[in-house]
Amino acid sequence: MTESQKSPRSALGLCRLLLEKDLKEGWQLAKDYTELDMSFEAFKAFYTKYPSLHLAYYLNNELVGICFPDVVNGEIVIGSLAVKKAFWRRGIGSSLLSCFERAVKATGQEELTVGAADIEWVERFYMKNGYEPKHLLVQIDDGAMFNPSMVPLPLERRDGRKLYFRAAGYSPKLRGRVAKLPGVKSANYIMWKSL
Ligand SMILES: CC(C)(COP(=O)(O)OP(=O)(O)OC[C@H]1O[C@@H](n2cnc3c(N)ncnc32)[C@H](O)[C@@H]1OP(=O)(O)O)[C@@H](O)C(=O)NCCC(=O)NCCS
Repeated sequence: MTESQKSPRSALGLCRLLLEKDLKEGWQLAKDYTELDMSFEAFKAFYTKYPSLHLAYYLNNELVGICFPDVVNGEIVIGSLAVKKAFWRRGIGSSLLSCFERAVKATGQEELTVGAADIEWVERFYMKNGYEPKHLLVQIDDGAMFNPSMVPLPLERRDGRKLYFRAAGYSPKLRGRVAKLPGVKSANYIMWKSL
């Protein structure tokens, strides 16, 4: 789809549609590096439904990165984005992300969100690519009591055990503190970008 030539240390590979012959490898890569909870059969069916949104990065014909969506309430979001560790910090993740954004925009959707992993450098990766924190998503343990006023942010939406607080800027410290509150299972930023 596009050549990546961002900087002198950029990988000179190719971001393109995931080839059908590489489905298993792409699924395995996502399983190895992200919390993908999807059987290979389900992944294959999802690929068949949204082929234009399953992208891969090939370097000398080797599949080294993958990006594909999740669809939540009819909205396309970033489902999995992963690059093999030996190829990190060469611009491949950013290149995949921008290919994915173009593919999403081509569907008519004008914004994109991702539930970023609760790791500071992953959050900074997204921010470097133009994303900003929109919500702090706080997930509550099964059966736990939780008082939302313990989080010093406005609660915007609640969906069962998922509480969406409007983010006021980026604070990994606050995210870490919220994650340690009693009854909290996890806290992570939902990052947003206008396409
Ligand atoms: C996140 C991931 C896709 C980034 O891929 P990548 O090809 O290394 O990303 P890029 O080279 O485009 O990085 C762009 C910027 O992000 C930041 N970044 C990326 N990886 C980083 C790291 N390990 N430590 C610190 N900053 C990092 C840097 O600012 C980097 O720019 P720089 O190298 O010029 O300083 C890759 O690390 C990965 O697959 N991680 C495991 C899976 C994962 O966490 N996926 C995201 C789930 S939400």
